[in-house]
Amino acid sequence: MRIGVDYYPEQWDRSIWQADSDLMAKTGVKLIRFGEFSWSRLEPSDGQFEFQWLDDAISTFSRHAIGIVLCTPTNCPPLWMYETYPDITQIGPDGRRIQTGIRAHRCINAPMFLYYAKRITEALAKRYANNPAIAAWQIDNEIEAYPCTCEVCCNQFRDWLIDKHDTLENINAAFGNSVWSGEYSDISQIKPPTAYSKAWQNPSLCLEYSRFTSDCAAKFINDMSLIIKRENPKAKVTTNICFTENQPDLYKLYEGLDFASYDNYPQITISGDKAVSHSFELDMIRGVKQKNFWIMEQLSGPTGSWEPMSPTPRPGQIKGYAMQAMAHGADTVMFFRWRTAITGAEMFWHGLIDHSNVPSRRFKEFTELCKEAQKLSVIETTELVSDVAIMYSPDAHWAFSIQPQTEGFDYLEQLRSFHSAFARYGANIDIIAPTADLTKYKAVIAPAMYVYDKNAAENIYRYVIKGGTLVMTARSGVKDQFNNCIMEPLPTVFREVIGAEVKEYDSIGRHEQNIKDFAGNVFKCRQWCDILELTTARAYAEYNDSFYSGSPAVSMNRYCSGVAYYIGTVCNADFYESFSGNIMKQTGIPRLRDLPTGVEVTTRTNGLDDYIFFFNNSDKEAEIVLPKAMFSIIDGSDREKLSLKPYGMEIVRK
Ligand code: GLA
Ligand code: ZN
Repeated sequence: MRIGVDYYPEQWDRSIWQADSDLMAKTGVKLIRFGEFSWSRLEPSDGQFEFQWLDDAISTFSRHAIGIVLCTPTNCPPLWMYETYPDITQIGPDGRRIQTGIRAHRCINAPMFLYYAKRITEALAKRYANNPAIAAWQIDNEIEAYPCTCEVCCNQFRDWLIDKHDTLENINAAFGNSVWSGEYSDISQIKPPTAYSKAWQNPSLCLEYSRFTSDCAAKFINDMSLIIKRENPKAKVTTNICFTENQPDLYKLYEGLDFASYDNYPQITISGDKAVSHSFELDMIRGVKQKNFWIMEQLSGPTGSWEPMSPTPRPGQIKGYAMQAMAHGADTVMFFRWRTAITGAEMFWHGLIDHSNVPSRRFKEFTELCKEAQKLSVIETTELVSDVAIMYSPDAHWAFSIQPQTEGFDYLEQLRSFHSAFARYGANIDIIAPTADLTKYKAVIAPAMYVYDKNAAENIYRYVIKGGTLVMTARSGVKDQFNNCIMEPLPTVFREVIGAEVKEYDSIGRHEQNIKDFAGNVFKCRQWCDILELTTARAYAEYNDSFYSGSPAVSMNRYCSGVAYYIGTVCNADFYESFSGNIMKQTGIPRLRDLPTGVEVTTRTNGLDDYIFFFNNSDKEAEIVLPKAMFSIIDGSDREKLSLKPYGMEIVRK
């Protein structure tokens, strides 16, 4: 397992590079990332390239066998470019040009920006793509599906729509533009959504625009990657993301890239009892390419700068959260950042070395991590194999953000509830695209499949027909592919597989009611109640209140060789735990019972050996008694009992 750091040579004196490279080598740092914001140093004026400093930086660090992750600097065009070509700056949904002065303001469709972006990327690729010191490339930084409304973007959006729908009539029909006299009589009338609340705007337009901006981000990243691959087809190329409001479709974004990478900043809580787990995000990023990934930026200290500072990472968290990422499929973890900035807007987003320049408690812990990581080489050839998959649909995510369904309803919460329930029993969980291959899973959870996608629907049917166990939930089958409602009983296309239909629904928001399952257990429900009428299904749980008391709330249907469950409401964690436990029992997925609160278990395998990761995501020590003695690869001995320190990790060979 490789540990690396993010570094900004342009922010430090060369004497510091020297000292830093020595200390990194001594500490066991294997990789260093630089360049993503350094365009003004690489091209101080139009066409005047200066690579000497970068050559020097590369050789300073690679001399110690530290591999370089080289970034393309396109996130931050230099000011001369903004000055010469003001229209490379994005225009926001309010029609105003965004003010420069921070970063990431370039419009990724603007021709002059693209001209320069390609030129600098090509120049870097020509100079470094075959340099053995370069371990990988990062394109840009945390790309988003920017809602830019500049003229270029407007025109491209129109072309994108015409390309997809052929004619203006078709667009009018797909958007249902007879509502509120929204019909286009000329293509120039098509405009991106405005700054008004999305809920007031045409939902079809809004969804198509999300798809368009997402395609733009994916195209930009993939085009830049091709420039590098042209110089060296074997170059390893990625881009780093975090989860944002303007999130592109990650499945498309990473299509042409070699691996996914994620910027991992687990939230720091003072009382471990309330510790939030970042395991969902980690599984989500692994699911993007369904293979191991990198952490490109990892929590190193208190966060802050544009927000008040967070608490400092508690003892164990620097090391523990990096190991947690490995437990979920990260092979490389790069820390953001080696040094805390002393200048610029980000000086309070702490790195490993504080302003004081005196190695701190956190740095000591990082040193321990580097040492420990070297013992984990057997893990490098392993990956997670999961029995359970949860579907994530970018379409549903966008569409729910356009039209919130009920107070408190959150699409990702639907996924998270199942994720934490299965995780409580130590299951590996994949989070996958709705069109991913499902044949290897014993159970597939498809929460809120809101927007119709023919391939996804067929995928789901095929899975159940062949014997799979499927779980669907409320707000499935609601919309057609253009975000319009469908004139059929819900859940429309999924009625047959679930063997039930929705007679009526009740959006109860934050109000709480009860459901009772077949065994008599009562659980709270909230937000949404689908009142079901069963055709071939049987009731798993019924409502216990309101005028629909006694009507089915959760159903179970045998369909061909498989089984399909439908949960018509939203419950609290206890329901999902009980339900997932039953699903695991039915499908023969092994369950670990009585794991102490906060202890997370995942397994990585190379086909011959399984390695079980026990991570204690709490501030209390935890004890685990193993069913038999197992070999700990961290301390190299057989163990029957594990004592996990707060945020501690143990890895045993099964
Ligand atoms: C993001 C960015 C970094 C930095 C960090 C911390 O993840 O990619 O450049 O800004 O946040 O603030
Ligand atoms: Zn634009």
